[in-house]
Amino acid sequence: MENVTIINHPLMSHKVALLRDKNTNTKQFRELVEEIATLLTYEAFKDIPTEEIMVETPLEVTPQQVIVDNCVAIIPILRAGLGMVNGVHTLFPTAKVGHIGMYRDEETCQPQEYYCKLPLHIEEKICIVLDPMLATGGSAIAAVDLLKAKGVKHIKCMHIIAAPEGIEALHKAHPDVQIYCATQDRQLNEHSYILPGLGDAGDRLFGTK
Ligand code: PRP
Ligand code: URA
Repeated sequence: MENVTIINHPLMSHKVALLRDKNTNTKQFRELVEEIATLLTYEAFKDIPTEEIMVETPLEVTPQQVIVDNCVAIIPILRAGLGMVNGVHTLFPTAKVGHIGMYRDEETCQPQEYYCKLPLHIEEKICIVLDPMLATGGSAIAAVDLLKAKGVKHIKCMHIIAAPEGIEALHKAHPDVQIYCATQDRQLNEHSYILPGLGDAGDRLFGTK
């Protein structure tokens, strides 16, 4: 599928396997989510705009490519997306962060927005939406809708575990958005949880269950 990348790399598979394990504790879980987010960022920003600068080495002056200043904004979907922010900041330490608060209604699984605070001039940035879980796709679709309504043109979505249903729904709703997933799982269960999945990402990150 165009604009959908599922990472195929032993380092990623290894970390995702540890993340799924129900015996992985909160500290390990948090660290793994950060590390996986850094690996995903490396892949997702292959096409980031660069500009030429002149660099003086000890031997000569050479033209070199550097990333255009301040062109990325990090947009975690609360709560679980917060766990990925430090991993992206490892590679883009000065990127501004916008927060979108969204929870799934337990009965309907429909996303409910409860908070939104975005950096100034968001419409000029490449926005990277973070959420470890892409289940039905409802939360990611609503977050992208919201960013587009603010005028954002260039959006990427980064997920750790994605259900086929979620990938299809997000791609169908927003075919221009580039989707990066650490892994694609088998299916959703009757409660729209991902199988085999890792359970509730927010609860495992923050120790709330
Ligand atoms: C989880 C997850 C995603 C959403 C994915 O959040 O972090 O935001 O569900 O499901 P979807 O693709 O079907 O929308 P949840 O609603 O549990 O909120 P939380 O992060 O605050 O726990
Ligand atoms: N949200 C989660 O945290 N896990 C799932 O499997 C689905 C939605």
